[in-house]
Parts: sequence; structure tokens; C-alpha cells
Amino acid sequence: TYVVTESCIKCKYTDCVDVCPVDCFREGPNFLVIDPDECIDCTLCEPECPAAAIFRDDDLPEGQEEFIAINARLAKAWPAIIQKKDAPADADEWAQVQDKRALLEE
Ligand code: SF4
Ligand code: F3S
Repeated sequence: TYVVTESCIKCKYTDCVDVCPVDCFREGPNFLVIDPDECIDCTLCEPECPAAAIFRDDDLPEGQEEFIAINARLAKAWPAIIQKKDAPADADEWAQVQDKRALLEE
């Protein structure tokens, strides 16, 4: 399955949503996740993310492993998002920031 990682936090560009053929993205306050029970590993979302936040679960950058569980857990708590929407006004600034894990709002 594919996984949304830390880089998405406070960026939330949502380009990923429009290309997903099975509508498996879920939306929280400042982050999106992928429902691992719905993702069909089509690969289409990965290159669409301007923040390079999306990876296959067996190819995660070092330190991002906890996002497998975060995606699985929050996918069951958050509603579906099936259309791209405007990113936060300061998304481009947050795209430069590392270590955003503590800023994830559930
Ligand atoms: Fe959707 Fe395909 Fe991305 Fe999975 S890999 S979340 S099915 S676009
Ligand atoms: Fe997040 Fe990238 Fe999608 S920033 S909302 S995973 S396009």
C-alpha cells in the first residue's frame, strides 16, 4: 500500500486526491492519509505530490516508518476527500520545513 508521510503536514496540496482511481484518501485538519484497505497500489499519486510525501510502504524514507500505522489508524477516523481543494496559503513555506511530526492534528 502507499503511505502519506510527514512532508504532507501543513502542506496538504491535495493533488494526490484527483488521480486516485479508488478514492482512498482521507482528510484531517492539516494532513491526508491513505486507507490501506482500499489502496490498489496503482502508483499514480506518488509523482503528483509537490511535497514528495507519498511512498510505497516498503520504500519509506528512514524515520517515516510510523506513518504506516498513522495512515491505517486515521483512515478509519477521517472522512473521504475525493476532489482537490486549495492548499493552505502558507503551504509552500511549510514544504521547506523538516520535523513536522509534532504538528500533526488529529
Ligand atoms: Fe490511490 Fe493509487 Fe495512490 Fe493507492 S497508489 S492511494 S490507489 S492513487
Ligand atoms: Fe499531502 Fe501531497 Fe497529497 S502534500 S495532500 S500528500 S499532494
